[in-house]
Amino acid sequence: MALITKAVKGTQDVLPRDSHKNQFIESTVLEIAGEFGFKEIRTPVFEHTELFTRSVGDTTDVVQKEMYTFNDKGGRSVTLRPEGTAGAARAFLEHGLGNEPLPQKVSYVTSCYRYEKPQAGRLREFHQFGVECYGTESPAADAEIISLANEIFGFLGVDRIHLEINSIGCPECRKKYHDALRDYFTSVKDELCEDCRGRLDRNPMRILDCKVPHCRELVKDAPVILDYLCGDCRAHFESVQKYLDAMNIMYDINPKIVRGLDYYTRTVFEFVSDAIGAQGTVCGGGRYDGLIEELGGKHTPALGFAMGLERLMLLLDSLGVELPEAKKCDMFIASIGEKASFKAAELALELRQSGLTAEFDVVGRSLKAQMKYADKLGAQFTAVIGDDDLEAGSVKVKNMKTGEVTELPLKDFADLFMEMSLRAAAAGLQDYIEDGKAVDVSKFLGGLI
Ligand code: HAM
Repeated sequence: MALITKAVKGTQDVLPRDSHKNQFIESTVLEIAGEFGFKEIRTPVFEHTELFTRSVGDTTDVVQKEMYTFNDKGGRSVTLRPEGTAGAARAFLEHGLGNEPLPQKVSYVTSCYRYEKPQAGRLREFHQFGVECYGTESPAADAEIISLANEIFGFLGVDRIHLEINSIGCPECRKKYHDALRDYFTSVKDELCEDCRGRLDRNPMRILDCKVPHCRELVKDAPVILDYLCGDCRAHFESVQKYLDAMNIMYDINPKIVRGLDYYTRTVFEFVSDAIGAQGTVCGGGRYDGLIEELGGKHTPALGFAMGLERLMLLLDSLGVELPEAKKCDMFIASIGEKASFKAAELALELRQSGLTAEFDVVGRSLKAQMKYADKLGAQFTAVIGDDDLEAGSVKVKNMKTGEVTELPLKDFADLFMEMSLRAAAAGLQDYIEDGKAVDVSKFLGGLI
C-alpha cells in the first residue's frame, strides 16, 4: 500500500464507529478524578528536551532510546512528550501553582510518544489519563490516588486486575541500596548487556528494568530495596498500607517494582492484569518528592499515576465489558421534492437547537434510498414530508422500534416531538427494567444522553 495511505507504524486511528467508547472513557476518568478534587491541566505536546532528560532521567530507556526529539526551525531541541508528569511539573513551576492552596491536584488525558517496538498494548503514539498531586508528604495522599485508580477500575467493571505496591525509599536509603546493587552486578558484570554495564556506574537501579532476557535472569537474584529502607521510609510505607487496608483496597507488596523513570521516591505502584498479554501494566505511578526541586522549585513532595488508555480499552474488550452505545440519531426527516426538502432542513435545525440529533437528506436520494439510510443510522424516529404534508401543515412521525405512527403539526414540531420522544424513552426504560436489566440502566441511558 502506498505510504501516504498508511498510518505510521505504532500509531492508530479511532474511527467514528468507535470514538464514542473513547469519549465515554475519557469523560468518565476525568469526572471520577473531579470527584476526588483533581482539575484538568493541559500542557503542550512538545517541551524542551532538557525537561525530560532532567526529570525522566538520562539513564532511562525512555530518554536513551525512545524519545521523539528534533530541532525546530529556530534550532531548539524539542521532544514530543513521552509521558505527562514532566510537563505538568514544568507548568506547576512556571505558573507558580505552588503559591496556591496546597495540595494542588491536576488531571489530564494526553497523547504520549515513545519509539518502542510496537506490539499489542504497546504503541508509539498512545494516550494516558494521569493525575498529579503537589504539596503533600502524607501517606494519606498515596492511598488517595491509589484509591482513585481503583475506583475507576471498579466503576468500569474491570475485575481481572491487581495492585502491586513497593517503596523505593528516599535518596538516603537509595545510596546504600545502590552500593548493594553495584556489588551484586559487578560480580556478574561480564554477563550484563552493554547498556547495563554503562548503568552499573551511573545508575544501577536502571539495570532492574532492562528488557534484555539474560539481564532479567540476573536481576532475579539482585538485592531488593525493601531491605534497605530507612526508618522514616519504612514508617511511611507501612502507613500507606494501613490507609489501603482502611479503604479495603487489596494489594500485594512486590519488592521488584522500581518503575522505569528516575524521578520516583518512596511509594511506587502498578495495576497489572493478566488478561491482555505481555503489556499487562495498565496503570503505574508513585511519589516523586524530589522532582520539583530538581527542576528548580522549592522542596515540594508530589505524587501521581498514569493509566494507558489503549491498554485500558484492550482490557475492557478482553473482559467483555459493554460500554454505553453511541448516541443514535433521534430523527431522520425524509422529503419528497424541493419544497419539502427546505422544510426538512428547517425542522432538522429546530430539533438540533432543542438538543436532539437530527438529520435530513443532503444527498438528493430517492425516498426509498433515504429510508434505507435512516435505517442504517439507526434513527429512532422518521418523518416523511411531501407536498401534501406541507399543505396539511402536519407530518406523520414513525417510531422505528414500535412501528407506532403519530401525526404532529409542523408548527411547534420540535417541542412536540421532544415531548413524544421523552415519553417513548420512558416507556423504553420501563421495558428495560422489567426485562431485569435494571442494573444496566446507565448503559441504556448512555445511548440516550
Ligand atoms: P509509565 O509507567 O511509563 O508511567 O506509563 C504509564 C502507563 O502508560 C503504563 O502503565 C501503560 O499503561 C501506558 N504506556 C506506557 N508506554 C506505553 C506504550 N508504549 N504504549 C501504550 N501504553 C503505554 C508514566 O508515564 C508516569 N508519568 C506515570 C506517573 C504519573 N507517575 C507519577 N505521575
